[in-house]
Amino acid sequence: MMIIQWILLCIVLVILVVYIVMSLGMLGAARGAPFIPSGKKALHHMIKAADIQPTDTVFDLGCGDGRLVFAADRAGAHKTVGIEISYLVYLLARIRNFFYGSERTEIRHGNFFNFHDVREADVIFVFLLPVIMDKVFEEIWPHMRPGAKVVSHAFTPKGFTPNRVLKNAGTFKNIYVFQKENIQS
Ligand SMILES: C[S@@+](CC[C@H](N)C(=O)[O-])C[C@H]1O[C@@H](n2cnc3c(N)ncnc32)[C@H](O)[C@@H]1O
Repeated sequence: MMIIQWILLCIVLVILVVYIVMSLGMLGAARGAPFIPSGKKALHHMIKAADIQPTDTVFDLGCGDGRLVFAADRAGAHKTVGIEISYLVYLLARIRNFFYGSERTEIRHGNFFNFHDVREADVIFVFLLPVIMDKVFEEIWPHMRPGAKVVSHAFTPKGFTPNRVLKNAGTFKNIYVFQKENIQS
């Protein structure tokens, strides 16, 4: 009897570990990027580069644990929204929202391409693989307001030139700022 209980416990543990690993990494990786949070230095430079105004709505597409959302809120944004596809990472962000967020911060679960209000953002943060960056610039960028910005950690989309490059400001090399009015493609 004891042996059967141990075997069942092991099976449950294995399933749990596989689920956690898949939720944390594989789903995000398959959709656009694994969960690798921006470091302190990158966070600081991304917030500074975004030049957040009190009227701004800020989105983080693939928000991870929500750190950029909370930093944008502290920088004085009108509203900040993080969207995360991996369920466990989303739960982590929701828990952190309880401690670090405010009534102006929102954490959503799902694929950010399915949320159409993303297009109304004044600032969008991204830290995503190039192939998904291309899709962001195909599907979201053309619908964004004049003057709106995309602040990208490490990666640039094919065929677009950033308005500003902050060299070695990121955890992974550069930070790029694309601003709607001045874009060259
Ligand atoms: C490299 S992490 C960046 C996390 C956070 N933005 C930061 O800079 O600290 C990328 C995150 O995007 C999420 N992600 C990837 N594709 C997504 C999609 N289509 N919709 C929502 N989240 C996505 C991944 O699950 C992962 O947590």
